[in-house]
Amino acid sequence: MTIGTALTSGATKALLLGSGELGKEVAISLQRYGVEVIAVDRYENAPAHQVAHRSYVIDMTDSDAVKKLIASEKPHFIIPEIEAIATQALAEIEAEGLCTVVPNARAIQLTMNREGIRTLVAEHLMLPTSAYAFAENFAELQAAVNGGIGYPCFIKPTMSSSGKGQSMVKTADQLQAAWDYAKSSGRVDTGKVIVEAKIEFDFEITLLTVRALDASGTVQTYYCEPIGHVQENGDYRESWQPQVMTAAALMRSQEIAYKVTQAMGGLGLFGVELFIKGDQVWFSEVSPRPHDTGMVTMATQRQNEFELHARAILGLPVNTQLQQAGASAVILGGVDAKGVHYKGLALALADADTEIRLFGKPEAYVHRRMGVALATANTTDEARQKALKAASAIVVKTR
Ligand SMILES: Nc1ncnc2c1ncn2[C@@H]1O[C@H](COP(=O)(O)OP(=O)(O)OP(=O)(O)O)[C@@H](O)[C@H]1O
Ligand SMILES: [Mg+2]
Repeated sequence: MTIGTALTSGATKALLLGSGELGKEVAISLQRYGVEVIAVDRYENAPAHQVAHRSYVIDMTDSDAVKKLIASEKPHFIIPEIEAIATQALAEIEAEGLCTVVPNARAIQLTMNREGIRTLVAEHLMLPTSAYAFAENFAELQAAVNGGIGYPCFIKPTMSSSGKGQSMVKTADQLQAAWDYAKSSGRVDTGKVIVEAKIEFDFEITLLTVRALDASGTVQTYYCEPIGHVQENGDYRESWQPQVMTAAALMRSQEIAYKVTQAMGGLGLFGVELFIKGDQVWFSEVSPRPHDTGMVTMATQRQNEFELHARAILGLPVNTQLQQAGASAVILGGVDAKGVHYKGLALALADADTEIRLFGKPEAYVHRRMGVALATANTTDEARQKALKAASAIVVKTR
């Protein structure tokens, strides 16, 4: 791998589709290697726009708009950060052979729709998942639940993320409302929902898994220490690393992550979401990109998940080692307002082992993630307490 000089005709160029807080860190990591970074999002002044060499605002679900921009920018790498993009355009661009879609167009296509990834993992790779079915109308949904999935269960639009349109149903009388919610709140109405039996797990983890080249140029699979997390309304609130688990469960988790990421192919970092009960492990879903719960690695690892992604993409060696136990806690907007002010930073940073990242989003919403608190400590319990304390010290004000 040779890297050119940014902003010259020989530059190595990466184009980010999606410029949120995860994209911002990917942009910074790439720039540390001198890569020219072009950040794209659907709104102005998105987090990665603020650190990229150039930025664009386009509708990323519009195939023509995506193709036109890529034709004019001619990036070497296209790095999707979100799921809501015109994946068909990426497949066509990849087929032309002029640039690399990270990790590849098929993985992006498979993971943007729960049907694609679930079918691959459960039916082709035969790995354990919750019992599930797809339904195109309410009668089908009812039949699937009554026919074996039972209660409690989760109803989710097949295309959605961050818990949107998703609900847990405990009794039959709640099913209609869950159907209506899934149908109206999915990102794209595919006409289908997935219903999943609820797994009664002890805890859930993200296993960050990296496909990268070793010194001999062979693709190897590397794992970070498991990350435990707490979800509320389908969105993460706290994460910590390492999550303690049995040796058998860890081995099983790595086996599942290996098979899933191998089936996706390409180079890069993946966030494999797994449910754990004792020694038992179920696959939940996978992101072919850095994961929000993995922000904790900014405090815990020598190479955080963004740097691992950047290195893997560039064909460089990676080191997934944990340096210290740590935790992250999300800072939510708490208000619906533009151009907010953040107070309480000095208090939040009073502990020498805490850090705050503010994403610089131009507009806050009550439940929008505006920043994250990070902490390290001797134990994850202690780190969680510190991270929560730091996050709660930040006050988001309208002026
Ligand atoms: N079948 C299930 N059994 C038990 N818990 C579940 C199940 N499905 C979802 N959950 C819970 O809901 C959370 C969100 O589900 P999921 O990851 O499928 O949604 P998502 O919208 O893709 O969220 P994100 O984009 O934030 O990862 C899970 O992390 C888990 O806590
Ligand atoms: Mg998830």
